[in-house]
Amino acid sequence: MTTGFDALQSHATRLRGGPLSELLAREPDRVAQHAVRNGPLYFNFARQSYDAPAWQALLEQARAADLAGAFRRLFDGEKVNVTEGRAALHTALRGQHTDAVVAREAHASAVDVRQRMAALMSQLEGSDVTDIVSVGIGGSDLGPRLVADALRDPLPGRFRVHFLSNVDGAAAQRTLAPLDPARTAAVLISKTFGTQETLLNGTILRDWLGGSERLYAVSANPERAAAAFDIAAERVLPMWDWVGGRYSLWSAVGLPIALAIGFGRFEQLLEGASAFDAHVIGTPLAGNIAVRHALTAVWNRNVLGHAAQGVMTYDQRLALLPAYLQQLVMESLGKSVKLDGSPVGVDTVPVWWGGAGTDVQHSFFQALHQGTGIVPLDFVGTVNSDAPYAENHRALLSNLLAQSEALANGQHSDDPHRSYAGGRPSTLILLDALTPQSLGALIAMYEHSVYAQSVLWGINAFDQFGVELGKQLANGLLPALKGETEVKDPVTRALLAEIAARG
Ligand code: F6P
Repeated sequence: MTTGFDALQSHATRLRGGPLSELLAREPDRVAQHAVRNGPLYFNFARQSYDAPAWQALLEQARAADLAGAFRRLFDGEKVNVTEGRAALHTALRGQHTDAVVAREAHASAVDVRQRMAALMSQLEGSDVTDIVSVGIGGSDLGPRLVADALRDPLPGRFRVHFLSNVDGAAAQRTLAPLDPARTAAVLISKTFGTQETLLNGTILRDWLGGSERLYAVSANPERAAAAFDIAAERVLPMWDWVGGRYSLWSAVGLPIALAIGFGRFEQLLEGASAFDAHVIGTPLAGNIAVRHALTAVWNRNVLGHAAQGVMTYDQRLALLPAYLQQLVMESLGKSVKLDGSPVGVDTVPVWWGGAGTDVQHSFFQALHQGTGIVPLDFVGTVNSDAPYAENHRALLSNLLAQSEALANGQHSDDPHRSYAGGRPSTLILLDALTPQSLGALIAMYEHSVYAQSVLWGINAFDQFGVELGKQLANGLLPALKGETEVKDPVTRALLAEIAARG
């Protein structure tokens, strides 16, 4: 099948192999050409393996896919989630960047709910509650968990915020064991309020708290939330169909964030994301950071055929970023058919994974330097640290810079065991400092890059039907685990027998 990406193959053939230092030598302007700043974020793509003509060919793909028009449709609240007939208006949660009526209305409702959120927070602050348990999973957990962890002070503030997601009872047991039910409140977060894990853990919390008095909920189905847990309507905050779960941390789903870092700093997070939104909607394709990031992803996946993408955070406070991005990117882009249902015909999302440097250098970086597969990386670091140990921070930054350089340039040795081939691409992302604004901007950048990739591939970034079959089967297997029903599949049957014999 011929695709737009075929036009890029000749560039890949021309460039394939060799240390990236050769590209740098051939293109004296390269470093400046591929450096882009927006507000507190600096990106350098000079260690990606495209040269100037290849980059121009990539930009041509962005124009051919009308990425500028696609962003306009997203911001305007058009139903870009075509399989579910919905808009994806996460940008309206944090600002107003368009005159489109639906987006303006969405923004107004978001502002209203934020006021209600602030009022609930004040109530909680005036109570004797010291601990909050946030119950939710996937998009109702990963974003709040990341941001609360990244931006919390070293010592707990007004509240200690705990996160409970897994259906494994051991998670609930460990979370609750050190807490006092008399001084704990719980926030149950679920867009649908039909998620097994959250319903089971919510029930554990309600029973442990001795009733619903200190239960709060966030849902796009507030009636269901109120009814299922007998929560008073004023303690249930709404969200909307036009916010995808993995794009929802900016809504009332962010209540645990606000409780962990303060309401003012939650608003600064939104301001940072909104400032990045303004960059995305207002910047031509060539200078648009999210577009560059997406085109880089397409180059590495579709032209060079790399099956994995890493994100390495050189800031311990961002240690949860890879887990958050795994849902954002892989749930959004793990698709095999286009918007019209026809086969997509090219590879879509690679496996996203990562961890925090420098720890990762002492575990899997060996494979990144000398393994047979190439894994393009995003290195994310912060220029200024809040920690008081300046020498440690210099060491952290020197490691970040060294790893990217070593992967790119390699080093020849006559001993093949000690030789580094180089030619392993990475993007350098530097935050001036880790602040609510810079983190908001960084997360918004990834959201927009994901959307741009989906447009380039012609797929829907906003549905997730792939997760349904497993959920259905799990529900069907509950009675079989209790010995009440038989199952057809012989492997599952054998496993059930094994569990029954040992249990
Ligand atoms: O596992 C799929 C999923 O639907 C995610 O998309 C979502 O973020 C998560 O489950 C939780 O869903 P909910 O917020 O409805 O409980």
